[in-house]
Amino acid sequence: MTTPCRTEKRGRLWPGLHRSAPPCFLFFFNRESIPMKLATILSSLLLAVCAAGAAQAAPDLAKGEKIYKATCLACHGAGVMGAPKFGDKAAWKPRVGKGIPALYKSALDGFKMMPPRGGNAALKDDEVKSAVDFMTTKSS
Ligand code: HEC
Repeated sequence: MTTPCRTEKRGRLWPGLHRSAPPCFLFFFNRESIPMKLATILSSLLLAVCAAGAAQAAPDLAKGEKIYKATCLACHGAGVMGAPKFGDKAAWKPRVGKGIPALYKSALDGFKMMPPRGGNAALKDDEVKSAVDFMTTKSS
């Protein structure tokens, strides 16, 4: 007795769903809403890309390169006094192995023959760090 009853109900329910679904769908994506939704999606994508770009290494490396050329190249370019040479992966490997925070500290406070801030006391912490980022990224 129960089985035919259920089939009948389902039979009524489905055609109803099919009839109401297309207008609902159209209402959701109607004329104005498509460009608006696209604009929202695109602008949030753009924002996300920009935010990621700013937070990522790319601009820091450009800044680091400037600092490196102005201050660090003098010793690290040719390996003066045993400075790990720029681009010399073998020389940088054990240093990078100490961890980047340790290298920041060496660059900021000095380390053996490495003068604090490469001898340029005017450099800000983040400038010294970006030069370390630049040298280690390009040398490993
Ligand atoms: C006067 C020369 C000189 C200048 C300028 C210089 N360095 Fe160095 N640096 C050295 C020497 C020498 C060493 C190697 C020290 C050692 O391990 O004996 C060294 C080592 C380092 C190390 C590795 C430290 C460690 O813990 O292994 C880092 C990082 C570093 N320098 C960053 C910099 C940065 C960044 C600059 C520019 C802001 C810079 N150096 C400028 C001479 C210099």
